[in-house]
Amino acid sequence: MALYSEKVMDHFRNPRNVGVIEDANGIGEVGNAKCGDIMKMYLKIEDDIIKDVKFETFGCGSAIASSSMATELIKGKPLEEAKKLTNQAVAEALDGLPDYKMHCSVLAQEAIEAAIEDYNKRK
Ligand code: FES
Repeated sequence: MALYSEKVMDHFRNPRNVGVIEDANGIGEVGNAKCGDIMKMYLKIEDDIIKDVKFETFGCGSAIASSSMATELIKGKPLEEAKKLTNQAVAEALDGLPDYKMHCSVLAQEAIEAAIEDYNKRK
């Protein structure tokens, strides 16, 4: 069996929502000290809706696929829903990640949490 699902490979090769939002009103950057990977999320929130989301990930393929999928899962969604996104939901949407790569999906969850926290601080 292939180590990575087709979906993981697809989001790794063609990541969605890569880049920077210049007028983002919530930015979160997190890292994993063990592997050294870094993820930055930009949110544009209007009327408690995630109008736009972009990311920059300096990290492994699973981290790139996880950030790409996470942005797809919260784009256009109410803030309250985005807050509840779990790393398991990201991994499931990718049709699974190997156990030792689950921490990559945690990074995506944490980056979104950090960006929402930043948004709340700025309000
Ligand atoms: Fe560190 Fe994937 S190996 S985020």
